[in-house]
Amino acid sequence: MKCDKCGGKAVFHMRHHKLALCQADYLAWLPQQVERAIEKYKMFSHQDRLLVAVSGGKDSLSLWDILHKLGYAVDGLYISLGIDGGVNYSAESRRLSEQFAGSRGLHLHVVDVAAEYGAGIPQIAERAQRGRGKACSVCGLAKRHIMNRVARQGGYQVLATGHNLDDEAAVLFGNTLTWAGSYLLRQGPVLEARDEGLVRKVKPLCRIYEREMAAYAWLGGIEYIYDECPFAVGATSLYYKDLLNQLESERPGAKLNFYLSFLRAKAAGLFSPDADPDRPLLHTCPACGQPTTAPGECTFCRMTSKLQPGET
Ligand code: AMP
Ligand code: FES
Ligand code: ZN
Repeated sequence: MKCDKCGGKAVFHMRHHKLALCQADYLAWLPQQVERAIEKYKMFSHQDRLLVAVSGGKDSLSLWDILHKLGYAVDGLYISLGIDGGVNYSAESRRLSEQFAGSRGLHLHVVDVAAEYGAGIPQIAERAQRGRGKACSVCGLAKRHIMNRVARQGGYQVLATGHNLDDEAAVLFGNTLTWAGSYLLRQGPVLEARDEGLVRKVKPLCRIYEREMAAYAWLGGIEYIYDECPFAVGATSLYYKDLLNQLESERPGAKLNFYLSFLRAKAAGLFSPDADPDRPLLHTCPACGQPTTAPGECTFCRMTSKLQPGET
């Protein structure tokens, strides 16, 4: 197969775009697609200071690479969650994130949850006794809390995450199955900042297929962690991803269409933000100063208050 741009040997074919590209043209094409999404959804400008949350995986490291290449001022944040699972998940993803930053002379903030709060995510989840699926929900809460804190303290205007189209389509699918109105309203490429202390959040890869991100990392020589988090095994989101992949294999472009049609329907007023009965009022946590939906200490502070920093 030939490259549609230069006629050279194509190495990657995208059925949904009816496009085949050689290595050099693919590595140039993908950042252009990301730049288009940044502009279309007015995510940020070259004047903003960005913080990208990196997990050591292909999506977030590639996102950092792309934003840096596009000329944005972007630092990284890695949160060490204290997850081992036999594959040394946290240690290895930290090593790869540090290696990535070091090789490009980029600045990486590292927050070690166990050192800073007294226990890693598995132990915090155990103590919080949150029932099934606890580690992932505790982990999600901790990541959101820490990302927002570091972004605020560092004076970053925007926090970017590496969620790709497959992630977003799977979440959308789950929310649609139950018509979870409030979640549907808040799902999108941009979550606006709130005066109460929530930093603007963006997902520049929301229109890029997971497969395209894997190809970018591979062809671009970005070393990343292949293993999934050990707690993700059996997660509903992976099941939804499988279902959507079956759909996509029969009908190329179905995933992208599902997500983009949703965004267009929302822009056209299908869901009105004013009609959201569940839009949370935000209070300030007296312990950490971060915004929280309930009065009094935030869930994160309650979860970590009895732990001794540095003790695991
Ligand atoms: P996940 O929730 O694991 O699918 O990750 C979604 C996004 O959250 C990633 O693309 C990263 O931007 C961010 N993220 C996940 N884990 C971490 C971590 N340990 N440290 C910093 N950012 C993370
Ligand atoms: Fe948080 Fe898996 S990455 S529980
Ligand atoms: Zn708090």
